[in-house]
Amino acid sequence: MTATLIDGTAIAAKVRAQVATDAAAYFAGTGKKPGLATVLVGDNAGSQSYVKSKRKACAEAGMESFGFELPKTATQEEVESLVARLNADPNVHGILVQLPLPKQVDENKVLLAITPRKDVDAFHPVNVGKLLIGEPDFMPCTPAGIQQLLVRSGNDPDGKHVVVCGRSNIVGKPVAAILVQKAKGANATVTICHTGTKDMAAFTRQADILVVASGRPNTVTADMVKPGVVIIDVGVNRIEDATKKSGFRLVGDVDFDGVKEKAAAITPVPGGVGPMTIAMLLANTAKAAKLAGK
Ligand code: GUN
Repeated sequence: MTATLIDGTAIAAKVRAQVATDAAAYFAGTGKKPGLATVLVGDNAGSQSYVKSKRKACAEAGMESFGFELPKTATQEEVESLVARLNADPNVHGILVQLPLPKQVDENKVLLAITPRKDVDAFHPVNVGKLLIGEPDFMPCTPAGIQQLLVRSGNDPDGKHVVVCGRSNIVGKPVAAILVQKAKGANATVTICHTGTKDMAAFTRQADILVVASGRPNTVTADMVKPGVVIIDVGVNRIEDATKKSGFRLVGDVDFDGVKEKAAAITPVPGGVGPMTIAMLLANTAKAAKLAGK
């Protein structure tokens, strides 16, 4: 078997087209565009590139974006006072503080400072709690994108055994919380594996759907999956590659070449989960504007 590719770029384009329609309707009703404020602290190359892509996508969907940059020496107070200003700004419907933050800044305190109704990342504990009880206003972007990839590629998780590798607050825990709900596009049996798991392969081999978000290349190899598995590879790892102009290439957390002979379907890296994260951020921002009503 050679796996079908789950084309995140194509699926994201459909979501973005829908968001553009919603943004136009919002503009027609209010005379305003949905607005996203991005906050970038420091000069991490990956973060700069993500924020640039997010802002470009906003413009393409007919939404406003407001970019704020603070130096890598920024203090807790400086970051929190910017967030407070954005909380109060009626033209800002969504606030995104790009993570990770420099180590002198307490990430959890910053996330707590964002008002939950503008928290388009859905990282605030209020939104995390609402997600867990099955009543989300916003779902975190990468996990929501994973759910859309599964459903829209014809791999509905309903009744399936989903094994998640990784327990981060950004991906592993929330994707498990989404897919375990008694809801459309969910209703799965979910297992979470992590660095404390003994014999991870014993679990991954039971997966109908495998979501790999471990942050480490080759976490999952061909011997660790059953034939016909559907694999979502969340990893984005830069590997040095002198043949590339940039000096690096991107690989996921899964040994793509090995598993593609056994899997029924798999997301590529790049072009799988990444484009969906941005599409869901736009969707959340349009929804935040709609909830704000003006
Ligand atoms: N860093 C890595 N992923 C994300 C994300 O989805 N949102 C934010 N704000 N920072 C991130």
